[in-house]
Amino acid sequence: MRRLAGAKHVHRALASALLAACAACTVSACGGGSSGSSPMPTGAAAHDAELLDGRSVFAAHCATCHGTAGGGGLGPKFSDGRLLRDFPGIDAQIRFVEHGKGVMPAWQHLLSAAQIRAVVRYERELLSGPSSAGT
Ligand code: HEC
Repeated sequence: MRRLAGAKHVHRALASALLAACAACTVSACGGGSSGSSPMPTGAAAHDAELLDGRSVFAAHCATCHGTAGGGGLGPKFSDGRLLRDFPGIDAQIRFVEHGKGVMPAWQHLLSAAQIRAVVRYERELLSGPSSAGT
């Protein structure tokens, strides 16, 4: 009798442990896409609302061609300082994104001016390589 009750208890404990493991499993499956997502701003920049907006714009509209972390694809990659060499000033890059070029769409009628500035800052400050750190 006693042994049976004990066994039941163990069984219940096991069942709830399994349930907990299952719940954890489901949660991590939900966040599964995050491993391939665009980098988050860190340090002081983590509280920069414009950069955070820029990250969502990038993930939604630009990552398909430029890679989730700016590593390139159909569009050129932004790393290795290339972007900052091509566009030493932010305004030139904003104009480029507004007007597009060839396969690169013109974004001026698809995004607001604020969204374009935000995504351009995100590309310059988070995706364009070590030379952009802290600027
Ligand atoms: C359909 C694919 C595609 C999408 C979507 C796209 N781009 Fe591009 N992008 C390109 C291509 C292709 C080029 C190269 C254009 C050229 O020089 O001929 C380019 C070039 C660029 C450049 C210039 C890079 C350099 O160093 O010369 C910037 C900046 C840029 N894209 C920003 C963006 C932003 C911001 C978005 C999202 C709002 C975006 N792109 C979405 C295809 C794309």
